[in-house]
Amino acid sequence: MAKKLRVGLIGVGGIAGAHFPGWDASPFAEVVALGDINPETLARVGQQRGIDRLYEDSWELIRQDDIDIIDICTPNAYHAPYAIAALEAGKNVLCEKPLAPTPAEIKKMIAARDKSGKLLMTAQHFHYQGSSIALKREIDQGLLGDIYHARLWMLRRAAVPLRPTFIDRGESGGGACIDIGVHILDLALWLMGHPKPVTVSGITQDRLMHQKGSFSIWGGAIPQSVDVEEFAAGFVRFDNGATMMLEVSWLLHHKTPGEDMQMWLYGDRAGAHWPSNEICSTSNKTKQQMNTQLQVAEGGEPHAKECMDFAECVAKGRPSPVPAEQSLNVLSILDALYKSSEQGKEVKVEI
Ligand SMILES: NC(=O)c1ccc[n+]([C@@H]2O[C@H](COP(=O)([O-])OP(=O)(O)OC[C@H]3O[C@@H](n4cnc5c(N)ncnc54)[C@H](O)[C@@H]3O)[C@@H](O)[C@H]2O)c1
Repeated sequence: MAKKLRVGLIGVGGIAGAHFPGWDASPFAEVVALGDINPETLARVGQQRGIDRLYEDSWELIRQDDIDIIDICTPNAYHAPYAIAALEAGKNVLCEKPLAPTPAEIKKMIAARDKSGKLLMTAQHFHYQGSSIALKREIDQGLLGDIYHARLWMLRRAAVPLRPTFIDRGESGGGACIDIGVHILDLALWLMGHPKPVTVSGITQDRLMHQKGSFSIWGGAIPQSVDVEEFAAGFVRFDNGATMMLEVSWLLHHKTPGEDMQMWLYGDRAGAHWPSNEICSTSNKTKQQMNTQLQVAEGGEPHAKECMDFAECVAKGRPSPVPAEQSLNVLSILDALYKSSEQGKEVKVEI
């Protein structure tokens, strides 16, 4: 076995904890250096992980010659600057979602990637969930036929992540759309084969966050200074004639406790529900209505699997499992949704 690829992980807060097990399990890579602007967090995680190459200045970490992969787990605002610097320094980059909060930044990341010839992957871990893998495989073999409509939602009740990473616009770039909208939208587009979005009609709201006494089950009172959206709804048209209805919220008065993340994909052969993977169809010949269940064979923790897969792709010279162009599609739709909400009308998606 060749020497392991050396990973420098930047931003050792919450989600980094879900990446470490993947790097630990990978036969192709290992984390050897950490970066974080918070010296206490950096020292604590360094000690926990037994890693002594610690950088309060992550630019210095990026400049280290022996590092092969930079794993970016910082707030969204720093994804593009660190990723571009890392690609320019000849590193491969795995970057948390959203790849960047705006399409303009993603285009710059794509340009840096193309110049460097290195891999750039968005950490969309739902691609690695067993139900997603099983459904994608069947869709690609034609189970649903042409998918012409999708309904998707990621709805929470009183569950706002209260760290600045998510609710300070300067750090996050947006609210529920940018935080959780990217997950369900990315997954739906991937399952649909990434048709090109043409127009979006959408609305954002921030009503419940600014009510007196508003709270999140994660961390208590919601600061009244929050200036990002809590809710969004959108209708998307694609160039292949398909349509999509999207709903996202951190705070909706919705029945399901915690989080309700689901989608329906409707094709001209069958419809599918994710994550239950129930397949629904009607036989014109027998006049029967059929519901069947896809078997989900693959297990494993999806964040860990995504890190392991990225390491293997870098080691074996394979393409990025989640290319930046897919994230550009996702963020272009969300960007158009924001614009549509501001303008009060359907707008064109500019890619
Ligand atoms: N895929 C998922 O399921 C998932 C879940 C949560 C968060 N995320 C994404 O991960 C990223 C981080 O989220 P989190 O929950 O870990 O946030 P967090 O606030 O818990 O941690 C962020 C860490 O980055 C550090 N940091 C902040 N600015 C920095 C900078 N300029 N340079 C270096 N370090 C810096 C902070 O000190 C902190 O330790 C976000 O992009 C978020 O969208 C993804």
